[in-house]
Amino acid sequence: MAIISVSNLSYEYSNSDRKAVDDVSFDIEQGDWVAIVGHNGSGKSTLAKLLIGLMAADEGTITIDGLELTEETVWDIREKVGMVFQNPDNQFVGATVADDVAFGMENRQMDRATMRERVTSALTQVDMLDYVDREPAKLSGGQKQRVALAGIIAIVSKILILDEAPVCWILRDAAKY
Ligand SMILES: Nc1ncnc2c1ncn2[C@@H]1O[C@H](COP(=O)(O)OP(=O)(O)O)[C@@H](O)[C@H]1O
Ligand SMILES: [Mg+2]
Repeated sequence: MAIISVSNLSYEYSNSDRKAVDDVSFDIEQGDWVAIVGHNGSGKSTLAKLLIGLMAADEGTITIDGLELTEETVWDIREKVGMVFQNPDNQFVGATVADDVAFGMENRQMDRATMRERVTSALTQVDMLDYVDREPAKLSGGQKQRVALAGIIAIVSKILILDEAPVCWILRDAAKY
């Protein structure tokens, strides 16, 4: 069974006159690494947002790990998926890099010792441990993406969606997934 199954997916922004995603279907198997390549404006970010239910598709279905994405299942599905957005500024919540990396784990009510261990390990994997006490807003764009990635590595999601994020950092440790 595919871990992600997309069938005849379409989406058009309300202020637009053409579909951003037009009748897209694909399956991704567990353990696969898949890159979606296309011009600026070809709908990659829109597809990523549809996959985690940030917007509802006009047509088609998305099934993640056996669960069809609906209003009822969206929170269960987000538990399975970690996403680094194209612009991670929108994704920072912590006052320090450490707080930020821990945020997803706090939501999942992990114990403190595990959280501390995972923050250190995740920041080490993305080469950002030296910045642990810094303010996320004052980092460079690439550093922000690495911190966002650390937050996701720390949760150990089943599925990782990286929207133009530095895939090399992850691939180096892909064996862990
Ligand atoms: N919030 C939005 N409102 C209206 N149109 C949008 C919005 N975001 C993206 N679009 C349009 O949808 C299309 C796909 O954009 P996007 O998914 O961001 O492409 P990509 O990530 O491949 O560059 C583009 O034509 C873009 O202008
Ligand atoms: Mg994009």
